[in-house]
Amino acid sequence: MKPTSKRFPPLVAKFPGILHGGDYNPEQWPKAVWAEDDRLMAKANWNVVTLGIFSWVSLEPEEGRFTFEWLDEIFETQARAGRLVGLATPSAAAPAWLSKKYPETLRTGADGIRRRHGNRVNFCWTSPVYRRKTREMARRLAERYGNHPALAYWHVSNEFGGECYCELCQAAFREWLRERYGSLDALNQAYWTAFWSHTYTDWDQIEAPGAPHGETSIMGLTLDWKRFTTDQIVGFYLNEASAIRETAPGVPVTTNLMGTYDGLDPWKIAPHLDFAAWDSYPFFSGRPTDASTWVYVSFTHELNRSLKDRPFLLMESTPSSSNWYPVMRLKRPGMHRLEELQAVAHGADGVQYFQWRQGRGSGEQFHGAVVAHNQREDARVFREVAELGEDLKALSGVAGTHKPAEVALVYDWEVAWSIEAVAGPCTKGRDYVATVLDHYRPFWEEGVPADVISSDCDFGKYRLLIAPMLFMVKPAVAERLAAFVKDGGTLVTTYWSGVVDEHVQAFVGGYPQPLREALGIVSEEIDALYEDELNTVVAASASLFEVGERFEARGLCELIHVETAEVLATYGGDFYAGRAAVTRNRFGRGEAYYVASRNDKAFQKALLGRLIDRLDLERAVPFDLPEGVTATRRSGDRDYVFLLNCTAASMRIPLSRGIWRDVRTGSAFGDWIDLDAFGSAVLVFEPAARGEDLILAANQGRA
Ligand code: GLA
Ligand code: ZN
Repeated sequence: MKPTSKRFPPLVAKFPGILHGGDYNPEQWPKAVWAEDDRLMAKANWNVVTLGIFSWVSLEPEEGRFTFEWLDEIFETQARAGRLVGLATPSAAAPAWLSKKYPETLRTGADGIRRRHGNRVNFCWTSPVYRRKTREMARRLAERYGNHPALAYWHVSNEFGGECYCELCQAAFREWLRERYGSLDALNQAYWTAFWSHTYTDWDQIEAPGAPHGETSIMGLTLDWKRFTTDQIVGFYLNEASAIRETAPGVPVTTNLMGTYDGLDPWKIAPHLDFAAWDSYPFFSGRPTDASTWVYVSFTHELNRSLKDRPFLLMESTPSSSNWYPVMRLKRPGMHRLEELQAVAHGADGVQYFQWRQGRGSGEQFHGAVVAHNQREDARVFREVAELGEDLKALSGVAGTHKPAEVALVYDWEVAWSIEAVAGPCTKGRDYVATVLDHYRPFWEEGVPADVISSDCDFGKYRLLIAPMLFMVKPAVAERLAAFVKDGGTLVTTYWSGVVDEHVQAFVGGYPQPLREALGIVSEEIDALYEDELNTVVAASASLFEVGERFEARGLCELIHVETAEVLATYGGDFYAGRAAVTRNRFGRGEAYYVASRNDKAFQKALLGRLIDRLDLERAVPFDLPEGVTATRRSGDRDYVFLLNCTAASMRIPLSRGIWRDVRTGSAFGDWIDLDAFGSAVLVFEPAARGEDLILAANQGRA
């Protein structure tokens, strides 16, 4: 049975459409500019501003003296203009007076050296003083603005990142470990500490791991430190979020995540967010013709939608370029619209920017902004933002719509950490995220929606599950995967799966040990190839490939024994030529595929494209998409189809019979639509009255 569309209430109760706006830092400007901001925001079609993100010193210039008046005034201006406010807590950047008075709130690096005051996100996750101060500020903001008619959501802190190695954090880590293991014996066993005489005989001997001076050879310790840091961050977030929720309940609370940033496991914070939000700054490496960046961004949108299984917010993006890029390439015409519509296409119910007005000084003075130093409202960037605002108005019908996906890709933070933590099978090129992306791309190309989940998520709602390089298999995951296949699901996994448990201890008896029965294979060795070497994979059975079809394998090739599985392809070269390279195991009512080597794009397309057909997975559109163009659909009051041309060439897209109408302009298209380089369109389908589509098709060339 196909999943049906769901309809969620809007992200923020006060606004039923798509949010459009972003970071607004009026405290950096004289008042005379505020009125101009107000005028221009209306022209830019903004309906929301995010305030207060780094405003601590403007709200509390000295300890205990609060100066909220300027913020009151901005709130009033926004309310008068009918715009909403996402109000941030300012904990991401401490004021100098606080660091001076309470130096223990400053962050300590992995080198053991306490950082001096400056920059941002330079605070300790554990410090009771910092927690007390940030909670008090959150509470005061909630008291003052919690019931303000313009308040739409809370934005706690900003982009949680980094680790702190101070004594407070280390002590908390030891407590965390005591709780997790109960006894030192259990910890020593989990960490395999007899190696190099690493056995701990007292809890006090345990230090946070990490280069340059710390322990790097106890993988279980490395993983636990990362898990602990995530837990500290979640605690840090909840310290403020709970103050807000207690003081002024009813307004959604969130924070801005950072894509696949590896320092925080987003699945641990997601349950505590009212909606997911993330900051997207795709760097096109000066080569925007390469669609892979768009694929990556799309994947990350899928992740953020999956985190809460409902629409999310694109909290930040740049209106033009970012001074953090090594090359400040400008967005080409059309790219801005494409980038923001891409977010909506994948389930965002709002798109926002950093930032409204380009500052005159400090670290981000040349970062892109809606109002640049040129201050022209006829500037290209300003006009494109305003234009997009018009598009988004026409899309208010998609807000809240969400269709559960039939496919999920497993991209798991603990798996990523463990792959990076171990020594082997190669120093460079383990490429977990790139490998998962290679498995995502065929779905992107075919316009098949996919969720991105962790291995702890529920598998039961999917028909196809792709878990590439599932190196770490946490407790119960193998059983849940086996049950998924037994119940009729299709599983695809690859080389370097089922190698270690949650403590990063290897399974013995052949990988992927806990998945062995479901996959019907067992691995004996893994061969790592030099960058310029390749092997081939040759199809041996006609059940999915054409016999003799050849693909290239690079990087990693596993040597496996087949137990109950059927061999679909074998290696073409090296001493393991002829051995199984791709297998399929019928298990219960389902099937489990094992891909033993890292294969080329053509292989990914063949395997996953054919599984899409075999399982008859629903595509967004009933027509073929040219390479580099993707499509999604959001079904609300109507079926909205997003067509996104992520290439630098114009593309003709053949449409299926009927009338396709542009939601904004109302223009109708019959047999095809042309998209410019980086062009995008949102169409709704109307079955044509008899002959109407033929007339349209005949006229289209002349339109
Ligand atoms: C991040 C931050 C913003 C700003 C932008 C610049 O996303 O949250 O404050 O620094 O980067 O790209
Ligand atoms: Zn600390």
